[in-house]
Amino acid sequence: MSPTSLCIDGAAQVLRPPSEGMGYLRHDRAAELSLDPAPVLVTDGRITGFRGDSEAMVRIDARGCAVIPGLVDCHTHLPFAGWRAEEYELKVTGVAYEEIARRGGGIAASARAFAQASDDEVLAQARGIVAEMLAHGTTAFEGKTGYGLSVEAEARAVRLGRELGADRVTGLFAHAVPEGWTADAWMDEVAVLASKCEVDALDIYVESVAFANEHLARLGTIAARKGVPLRAHVEQFNANRSVPVAVAANARSVDHLACLPLEEVDLLAAAECAAVLLPGAELMSDEHTPPARELADAGAICALATNCNPGTSPIVSLPIIVGLAVRRYGWTALEALLACTLNAAWVLGLSGELGSLEVGKRADIVVLDEPISHVPYRFGRNPVCVVVRAGEVAWVRPDAAWRVGE
Ligand code: NIG
Repeated sequence: MSPTSLCIDGAAQVLRPPSEGMGYLRHDRAAELSLDPAPVLVTDGRITGFRGDSEAMVRIDARGCAVIPGLVDCHTHLPFAGWRAEEYELKVTGVAYEEIARRGGGIAASARAFAQASDDEVLAQARGIVAEMLAHGTTAFEGKTGYGLSVEAEARAVRLGRELGADRVTGLFAHAVPEGWTADAWMDEVAVLASKCEVDALDIYVESVAFANEHLARLGTIAARKGVPLRAHVEQFNANRSVPVAVAANARSVDHLACLPLEEVDLLAAAECAAVLLPGAELMSDEHTPPARELADAGAICALATNCNPGTSPIVSLPIIVGLAVRRYGWTALEALLACTLNAAWVLGLSGELGSLEVGKRADIVVLDEPISHVPYRFGRNPVCVVVRAGEVAWVRPDAAWRVGE
């Protein structure tokens, strides 16, 4: 008997990929995911097999449950300081996001809050959010800078992202043009930040209130020089025709896409560039709906994320995001789960380690107390009852404590 062995037994459904070793699964193949029941065995933090083991030290009784990989949140803006509920009320009563930004709200307001908060305050809030995410099944997440808006404050955001324990820290140094700067001049500072900060990817916000396609192309060059993936917030409120620019710059992902023109679906679907869709922001910010059904049918690498941030999407729960995607995009539950497991891990360059239940991968496993079809259907309910991270039981819903035995 291994001292750290664990067995999850009795589940009615176990979500597994069609074959081992896939970096991602294009969405036209989502139906190839399997749900066949099997025990899941873990030893020393790794998945070791799918046959029963009466010797396991920790046993999780998953009768009536679905077992899925730990959810991966591939687009959050953690860490940030405070919230912006007053802006939400402005938005729902008719003031546009871009107008709020022009009045000094939006990203600039969060930058002021970030500057005023101590490191401890920022980390305390972020740790609380990460704990909520874990209770909703998220076992790995990305965080971004972007609320610094000065060289020093952006470098501070990188440091705090690392202290928070984000699995990936993305330098969103080109999030908004800081006051007193032009976008062109700020891009020179972005290049400096990129060379001096230890980040896992670089990101940019292309929009009327932020940066333009030429800056996206330039960030592609900076990212290539640094040897990190390029990511980009594009087509959120307007069709800026940024996807061809991002694909030409070899972007790992294009995120948002609420205004993606239909004629660009095939280009994106043929590329090795993920479409990261953010239905929480679409709902909360009254955005358009992206051509998500078309992207899936065309075989794009689709991913979903919370986009957890104080402005457009204060949402922490990936099960809620799954529910929104199924309802708004006309996706199946399998398509939505693929998008926040294997494909989300690929966006972060982590799919060799996370994102699917496969022998050898890190044992990040979520037990749902209902079949996967119920996740979108019982919208708003948290179906997560046990979370295993790196082979350890990391969270148990109090009413499910009976399922975990030694
Ligand atoms: O992904 N669009 C740009 N960035 C964020 C919003 C940031 C904010 O409003 O604080 C997003 O939606």
